[in-house]
Formats: sequence, C-alpha cells, structure tokens
Amino acid sequence: MIQLEENKSIENLTTIGVKGTTYRYCKIEKTSNLISILKSNSLPIKVLGGGSNILWTKKFNGLTIHINTKGVSVEKETNSHVIVNINAGENWHEFVIWSIRNNYGGVENLALIPGNIGAAPIQNIGAYGVELKEVFVECLAINIKTLKSKVFSVEECEFGYRDSIFKNQEKNNYIITSVKVKLSKKGHHKFATKYGDIEKIVKKNSLSPSKIAKAVIEIRTSKLPDPKQIGNCGSFFKNPIIDEVLFEVLLKKYPEIPNYPSKNKYKIPAAWLIEKLNYKGYRDGDAGVHKDQALILVNYGNSSGLEIFNLSKKIRKEVLDVFEINLTPEVNIW
Ligand code: EPU
Repeated sequence: MIQLEENKSIENLTTIGVKGTTYRYCKIEKTSNLISILKSNSLPIKVLGGGSNILWTKKFNGLTIHINTKGVSVEKETNSHVIVNINAGENWHEFVIWSIRNNYGGVENLALIPGNIGAAPIQNIGAYGVELKEVFVECLAINIKTLKSKVFSVEECEFGYRDSIFKNQEKNNYIITSVKVKLSKKGHHKFATKYGDIEKIVKKNSLSPSKIAKAVIEIRTSKLPDPKQIGNCGSFFKNPIIDEVLFEVLLKKYPEIPNYPSKNKYKIPAAWLIEKLNYKGYRDGDAGVHKDQALILVNYGNSSGLEIFNLSKKIRKEVLDVFEINLTPEVNIW
C-alpha cells in the first residue's frame, strides 16, 4: 500500500529548509511501488531525492514523489575492480563511507556531497578534481510516460560540467531508479590529489581512499555550511565558462581574476565574481550569502524560497551588469 499524503509541508525535505507545500506526496520504498503510483496518477509530478539541490518557491499543485529505495550490492568483482549497484534512495555520502570502509577507491573526493544516489547522474556531481562520470558505468531509469525501464550507459548520459542528458533532451522524462559504478580495489587505486588543498593535507607516499576522504571532509567542513546548522543547497550557481574575447577584457580590468583555461575558453569561479561585488556575508532578512563561500546562498531560519530566489536574481543582475557574465543557477527552482 502506498500512502498518499495531502497538503504536505516540505520544509524538512529540502536542505535549504524553506517553507512550502505540495498538494500530494508519497514516499517510495520499492521501485515496483513507483510504477504503480505512476500508473494511477494523473497529476503533474515532481521527483524528490535528498532535497539538496532544490529551492521551493511556490505551492506545488501536483504529486511529489519522494524516492527512498535503499540497497547497495557488489554485482561483479575482479582482481582490480568491483561493480556496485546502488538504489536511488541511498544517501550519497553514506555510500562514500561504505566504499571507504571496504577500501574501494573512486568516490573518496566526493565525500560529504549532500543528496541521494538518484540525483547524482542528473548533474554529474563533482568536487575536488573528480566527477561522477569517472566511476559511472550505467543507470537504470523509468520513463514517466511509457513506464518502461531504460539503461543509460555513460555515453548516453552525455555528461558535462554539472550537466547530463537528464537536464537537456530527457529533462523530466525519466526517474532514475539505480546507478552502477566501477570502483578500484587495493593496489589499483588512482588518486586525484591535484586539487590544491588536498595536496596540502595528505602526504603523497601514504595515500588511501580513507585519507583522501578525510582531507576532503576537513576542507568541506571548514568552508561549506552544514545544512543541519544553516539551510543551504550547496553552490547556487554554476561556475561560468566564458570565451577568450570577454576573458581578455576582464583580465585587463582585473589582472587577479582566478581562471581555469580549457579549450580556448575560461572557467571563472562564480564565488569570486560574487565576492568582488561585496556580497560575501551579505544578509537581507533571513536570506543571505555565506560568509566563507560566496557561491552559497543561505537561509538563516525563516527565509522564504522566494526571498532566496529574489536575492539570486539581484546577484545575477549585478554580475551581468558589471562583468557581462550570465550566471546560471545550479539549483532547481521549483
Ligand atoms: N572564491 C572566492 N570567494 C569565495 C570562494 C571561492 O573568490 O568565497 C574563489 C577562489 O579563487 C577559489 C575559487 O573561487 O580558489 C574556487 O573556490 P572553491 O574551491 O571553493 O570551489 P568553487 O568553484 O566555488 C566548486 C563546486 C563545489 C565543489 C568545489 C570543490 C561548482 C558550482 N561548485 O566550487 O561544489 O565542492 O568546487 O571542487 O562547480 C556544489 O556543487 O554544491 C559544490 C559545493
């Protein structure tokens, strides 16, 4: 039996903790229940996982499906690798901890990323020099209209920086139900330590998945607000990628501008642009910009989703006026 709730508050279901309601709500513990609910439903739907990348700005007059299917299993094992299948409702960080306990390598740089497994492929989660696509094998997803399952290989997912087919051609068409990743076993790990702060913390000659994860956790907790203490949804904007012409103009004006060149383009930290406009630590009511990381918008307690959204619009407009850069939200605005 799937329990349908009515006019449910979503305040505790997203990490930014703004108030909001959904007309109908159900929590799915088994994939078969997901199919039953999709079959019987005629309302518009939204799919909720860990709620870490969502800003709720208005009442939703449809059905919110909260995916909570659990299960982690090793499907295949060789001398060097394991293929692990994880159900969509598993918490990403708990999966990283499980991998580290088993001394499997590949996801240690992605420790402490909030959110669930099912959302990870949608934006190709990434941090500290590693992206999901590097360990991703395939995912299983249900087509919302036909109810047929489809396997998406790594190529079919068309992963990019915070991007995939699920944000483009297949936006809102599929619900991801499980993900398979390939992790390395002891003696076969390849560590990514290039990201400056990691190199400073871990010694090169004694690397392990657990030591890297520990370093990442140390870096993240020193810079990023814990959503349990201050509501937030991680980076609010993507780091913009600009062309050479604009880059040269900006470089003349701001010789200190941090940048990451790639294929005649330049990725600029959005946090730097926002900090340059003096927004770091800014607060208007209970909506604000984090004091240690300008890319993170925070809810100090009673901000509404709309107030956070309006602050994001104000920042976008100023960044556009001053730097001629159009920031794209990384967060889904609901
Ligand atoms: N910077 C500032 N001001 C700040 C913070 C950063 O000027 O307040 C500048 C500095 O020059 C710094 C650079 O921005 O060197 C990069 O900062 P940081 O390493 O903190 O990373 P980021 O580019 O702001 C991205 C991801 C994060 C991820 C980190 C580490 C995006 C949108 N965000 O942030 O992901 O943890 O790199 O890899 O790509 C998330 O997606 O929610 C997230 C937290």
